Amino acid sequence: MADETPIPNESEDFSKSAYAKYAEQEDIDPRCIPIKLDGDVPEHEAITYPDYPAHDHETWKTLYSRQAGQLPGRACEEYLEGMRLLGLQPDHLPALRDISLTLDEMVGWRIARIPGLLDTNDFFSFMARAHFPSTDYIRQPHELEYTPAPDCFHDIFGHMPTLTNPFFSSFFQYFAQTFLRVSDPKEIRQLERFYWFTVEFGLINTPEGRRIYGAGILSSPKEVLHSLSDAVEVIDFTPERLGTQEYEVWHLQPILFAIESFEQLESEFRAWAQFKGWDR
Ligand SMILES: [Fe+2]
Repeated sequence: MADETPIPNESEDFSKSAYAKYAEQEDIDPRCIPIKLDGDVPEHEAITYPDYPAHDHETWKTLYSRQAGQLPGRACEEYLEGMRLLGLQPDHLPALRDISLTLDEMVGWRIARIPGLLDTNDFFSFMARAHFPSTDYIRQPHELEYTPAPDCFHDIFGHMPTLTNPFFSSFFQYFAQTFLRVSDPKEIRQLERFYWFTVEFGLINTPEGRRIYGAGILSSPKEVLHSLSDAVEVIDFTPERLGTQEYEVWHLQPILFAIESFEQLESEFRAWAQFKGWDR
């Protein structure tokens, strides 16, 4: 895809309006149509390792080396430590089963292997019981710069390292449980924005400077550099403010929010949810 062509960011988006934007494209990619599961999927130790063709490992290798090279001094320490703890290797696709075993031991989270983009309720139902739904297929070689569909590079490289942080994983599970309790469309939209500006596009202030923890940034070469540049207006994290901020799926993010710690992310989201009556 040419550089000047607006592209959606490399992350899930749950809003109907965003899907409508996909649908407006001339040739909607079937991988971008949410799936409603009609049965169980393999979880944890039951997940088998696919017989990946060599070009899939090459794709992982290319994406990994490009992204990992950008992350020291840009990604937060909790994420970089999570990379080490999960033992992600640069030269071959990891096994979801192995990651699941490590996460389970560390923070009580497990992996569920899913076939693609999930229906919103299915997606959050997994996370509400501390299961991260992940694909095990990787984008095609011609999609190195961008894929509109979920793939395991975004799921594994973008999301899973930060899950090793107990405050983040606790927040994540509580967020999902909260999301499933909310039915008002305006409140769902607030939660979608919250998810976007934290889980996918979150920044964190540290004594060493501002760092990245959002998976949508960490798995996107353009967003990593852009998110820490002067082109972005960074706003202090407050849940209420964040819940009102619209986001742009098809361009680099002009506005981002910075938390002070994962403890703050968890405690302030819980307080907001209680204030809104979403905890019951
Ligand atoms: Fe994501």
